Order: sequence, then C-alpha cells, then structure tokens
Amino acid sequence: MGYKIAIVGATGNVGREMLDILAERGFPADEVVALASRRSQGTEVSFGDKTLKVQAMENYDFSDTDICLMSAGGSVAKEWAPRIGAKGCVVIDNSSAWRYDADVPLIVPEVNADAITGFSKKNIIANPNCSTAQLVVALKPLHEVAKIKRVVVSTYQSVSGGGKDAMEELFNQTRAVFVNDPIEPEKFTKRIAFNVIPHIDSFMEDGYTKEEWKVLAETKKMLDPKIKVTCTAVRVPVFIGHSESVNIEFENEISADEARNILREAPGCLVIDKQEDGGYMTPYESAGEDATYISRIREDATVENGLNLWVVSDNLRKGAALNTVQIAEVLVNRGLIQPKKAAA
Ligand SMILES: NC(=O)c1ccc[n+]([C@@H]2O[C@H](COP(=O)([O-])OP(=O)(O)OC[C@H]3O[C@@H](n4cnc5c(N)ncnc54)[C@H](OP(=O)(O)O)[C@@H]3O)[C@@H](O)[C@H]2O)c1
Repeated sequence: MGYKIAIVGATGNVGREMLDILAERGFPADEVVALASRRSQGTEVSFGDKTLKVQAMENYDFSDTDICLMSAGGSVAKEWAPRIGAKGCVVIDNSSAWRYDADVPLIVPEVNADAITGFSKKNIIANPNCSTAQLVVALKPLHEVAKIKRVVVSTYQSVSGGGKDAMEELFNQTRAVFVNDPIEPEKFTKRIAFNVIPHIDSFMEDGYTKEEWKVLAETKKMLDPKIKVTCTAVRVPVFIGHSESVNIEFENEISADEARNILREAPGCLVIDKQEDGGYMTPYESAGEDATYISRIREDATVENGLNLWVVSDNLRKGAALNTVQIAEVLVNRGLIQPKKAAA
C-alpha cells in the first residue's frame, strides 16, 4: 500500500521538479495531488506519463493525505504548515519559514538524516536554502576527517532561485538588449541581463543580506554550531545551477589529493577536477542533474590547513525538489510514517 502525497506549489519551478523527481525515483505513492493558489485552479501539470488537474490548496482537506511537499513561499508556509501538520499530514517545506525553529528538523539526508526523528513535534520538516544544501553536502565528508574551523563562501546563484518570474525577467531583459528595448528591473533591484547583482533577499542590520545569514545559520544547525561561516551571495545571469567558491580552514592537516579522494567516495558528491581546459563543472551542465559537483580543489597556502573548492549543483533539484523528496524517502524507508489508508 502506497502513500497519498500532496504537492503545494505544483505549478512553480520547484513544484514541477518535485513531480518529475517523485515519478523518476518511483516514490511509493498511490495518489499524488497537485495544489497551488486559486489562480491556477483547473490548469494541468505533468506527473510521469499522467496529467494532474491543479486544485486550490485552500479548499483541499489534508486529513487523508500522508505527506505534503510544500513549495509556495514563506507566508503560505507560515500560515498553512501548522494547520496541515495538525491534520496528521507531515509537511516538508522549502521556504525559510520553519528552518530555524528548534522543534523543526532541518535536513539534508547525506548530512544529518538522523535528526529527522524530532519531526513529530510539529509534523513539519524544513528543507534548507539552495546554497546551503550543496555546500553542506561537500563540507560534511571533509569535516568528518579534518574538522572544519572556518568557511568563506561566495555564491554565484542562478535566477531560478527567485522563482519563475525571475527566470522570465532574465529572458525578457536579454531579448530587450538585442532588440534595443528599454529595460525596467521588476523582481531584481538592478538589471540582471549581462550583469551580476551582489544582493539576494533583504538587508539586515549588520549589512549582510538574509540570504547570506541563512547559509551560516543553516550550516551551523545541520553540520556543527562551532563552524564559523561568512558568505557573500551574488545573483548571476544563469537560468539554472548555483555555483560557489568555497575557502575552508581546517583544524587538522588535509591535502588537496586527500580531499579529492574523500569527496570521490562521499554520498551525493561527484568530483570533476582535471586541472585542464574544461576539466571542471559549470552551472549550465549541472541543470537536470542530481549530484553536487566539486571542481578546482586546491591547497590554500595563505592559511594553515586551507583548501579552496568550486561547488556546483542544480538549485531546483539538490537545492530544493530532490532534497525534499529524499527527506520523504527517509521518512518512508525508516518506517517513521505509515500510509493512513493502511490504518483505516
Ligand atoms: N527555486 C529555488 O532554487 C528554491 C530553492 C530552495 C527553496 N525554494 C523555495 O521554494 C518556494 C517556491 O519556489 P519556486 O521557485 O518554485 O517559486 P515559483 O516558481 O514562483 O512558484 C511558486 C508556487 O507557489 C504557489 N503559490 C503561491 N501562492 C500560493 C497560495 N496562496 N496558495 C497555494 N499556492 C501558492 C504558486 O501557485 P500559482 O502558480 O497558482 O501562483 C506556485 O505554484 C519558495 O519558498 C522558495 O524560497 C526555492
């Protein structure tokens, strides 16, 4: 007997990817329900070789649904996740609304799958920010061997991280440059076509952005509260795939060769590091792939026990939809939830 799954935000970038990944991985679902806002009621989305009619979330009764994969932004999650959880349906949420709540596990299965056991306090599990997810997949195996003291990350984040409107803005602005049309930034604060913007999410009192703060708060929550992290988050004119330049200082000695060998064996990681023309990963190539790619592994001679890495992954997959489905798989494979239908 399989599970009944609801996708909230099924018409969005992440929601569509979730439907694809559930189908690709043969998730044990008897029924999958596509939900979005009232605006999308009656439209259709694909699920494997089937087509699902989208229903309005606000009219849907979650009482006989087992798992809700939610990807509809922070305000929807803040209001709806506790209501859905109270109906006995476990919510796995992609927004930042619940990530820092002490009673909500924040999970990347390759990093801290065991922390999932706390989920039943609120019936909510949080999925991390896209930049953090790929970062911790690369850091965890190195931390286990050489103990990380400090990380300096600069991100190069694709526009799909800002949703489908942001992708449209890059497309339209790029076209406008070629046909000499005026460019009016809408979702982004400045022109994104043929430009980079050192600003993602809102500014905080200390001058950092919320996106930068998320990377450090989430790395500490999932990996180790003692690790010091500092981040500069930058939006780049790439459609899909986030890249990160990562400088790491370790407690213990670790060479580039050792790091390469550790990462080659690590879950979720793929090392592409040929140190020759084209022998590294770019975000364009990562789109549609599941792995976190690690390239340009070098020793940093300016600090004791330092390494530099280039980390690339599809932000809609490992950064969001894939990780969410992997969390649902942990719930199922560890027998932490049973289909309600079986109990009825
Ligand atoms: N994109 C990424 O890389 C990424 C990574 C990690 C986390 N996330 C998070 O995932 C969430 C969605 O991102 P996205 O990129 O998929 O955005 P998106 O493409 O803009 O899609 C948003 C989805 O939310 C739905 N929605 C909006 N308001 C709703 C409401 N009141 N009730 C029900 N559904 C509603 C939309 O439905 P309509 O089509 O009906 O408006 C749409 O399906 C955000 O919280 C984002 O921060 C994104």
